[in-house]
Amino acid sequence: MSFKILANDIIWLNGRIATMDQDLNSEYGLLENHAMVTRNNLIVAIVPEAKLDMVNGKVVDLERRLVTPGLIDCHTHLVFGGNRAAEWEQRMKGVSYETISQQGGGINSTVRATRTLNEDDLYHVSQPRLEALIREGVTTIEMKSGYGLDFDSEQKQLFVAKRLAQSYPVTVSSTLLSAHTVPSEYKGKADEYIDLICNEIMPTLWEKGLFEAVDVFCESVGFSLEQSQKLFLTAQKLGIPVKGHVEQLSNLGGSELVASFKGLSVDHIEYLDLKGIQALKQSGTVAVLLPGAFYFLRETKLPPIELLREHQIPMAVSTDFNPGTSPFASLRMVMNMAAVLFRLTPEEIWAGVTCHAARALGREESHGQLKVGYQADFIVWNAADPVEMIYEQGSQMLYMRVYQGSISHH
Ligand code: NIG
Ligand code: FE
Repeated sequence: MSFKILANDIIWLNGRIATMDQDLNSEYGLLENHAMVTRNNLIVAIVPEAKLDMVNGKVVDLERRLVTPGLIDCHTHLVFGGNRAAEWEQRMKGVSYETISQQGGGINSTVRATRTLNEDDLYHVSQPRLEALIREGVTTIEMKSGYGLDFDSEQKQLFVAKRLAQSYPVTVSSTLLSAHTVPSEYKGKADEYIDLICNEIMPTLWEKGLFEAVDVFCESVGFSLEQSQKLFLTAQKLGIPVKGHVEQLSNLGGSELVASFKGLSVDHIEYLDLKGIQALKQSGTVAVLLPGAFYFLRETKLPPIELLREHQIPMAVSTDFNPGTSPFASLRMVMNMAAVLFRLTPEEIWAGVTCHAARALGREESHGQLKVGYQADFIVWNAADPVEMIYEQGSQMLYMRVYQGSISHH
């Protein structure tokens, strides 16, 4: 039976399609000699070219190029003011990230810089960062608040994320990270700050539709397990999915907490242990690996990759783009770090920036694979093998970027 093509459909012909469909028993879910048919923003068919009845539709010849799903960067702090270059210089001279943060630097210095900017200026400084990621193939990106830490500034960050989503061909998934650190005006009063989030910031901004999930920095320089739990209970009452920055600098058991709420993802997880992994297995939570932060902090404790693999926990890979621990607006570079530093295989890394990253955003039914019914977000590469985009850095390998069925870069 041949697929019926309508007049306005687009037939993407002659591509080598790395579908990332885990049900296909080929590496990267690769389909050769298949055509992909898109209708508006969706993929409506992937069929052997021989079976194609092409009386209708517009044809785009991909000339045997490699096609992958659009890249998904599932953990970023892209909207912020200022930078932390001076602080980094201090760190290069031997002062630790924790010490700097205890002395009022760290996250709080970016909070000051972010609060100072008005919405327009915050939008303008965020644009080039997003543009860099889009240029290299990102079609879906998560953006966190967490550098505002009061009602108006958190809202401002989320407004900027929304405005970016409206102006660029990219899907933005926003996350409320008001529990990133205790703001200076609440110093010594972390519980009161958590109450402010639970009673005002979270319910009001949720009501306004400004975010999709709630995140917390569960760490000695962030929030305790009890405070994180309080936050999650409020989120749960409102029906908001949760995730966490956990086990980055020590093991507080944050992963088990996230898992107990059936959270979307646990992120960083250098200090994750077997108990935590077993909890993730139960809950189906994604392990998000952030090699950029590992590298930039000169971390030596590796996340338990082998155990995650053994327990078949889906692993995502993301930039964690932020001014303090991962100032890297390049997912491809971070994919390289995932290979060199974390020893992930190329196929694991590709899954980590496509299907598993989609799952970390609760979008596994619509994003991250090239499959009938999924968003037509894909990249056509000037490359023969997916490993090339991990291996080679600094060159533009993107040939064509298609977002929701339309060519947005060529
Ligand atoms: O993901 N771990 C906490 N948050 C960020 C760092 C934020 C900062 O230093 O500004 C991270 O690494
Ligand atoms: Fe982060």
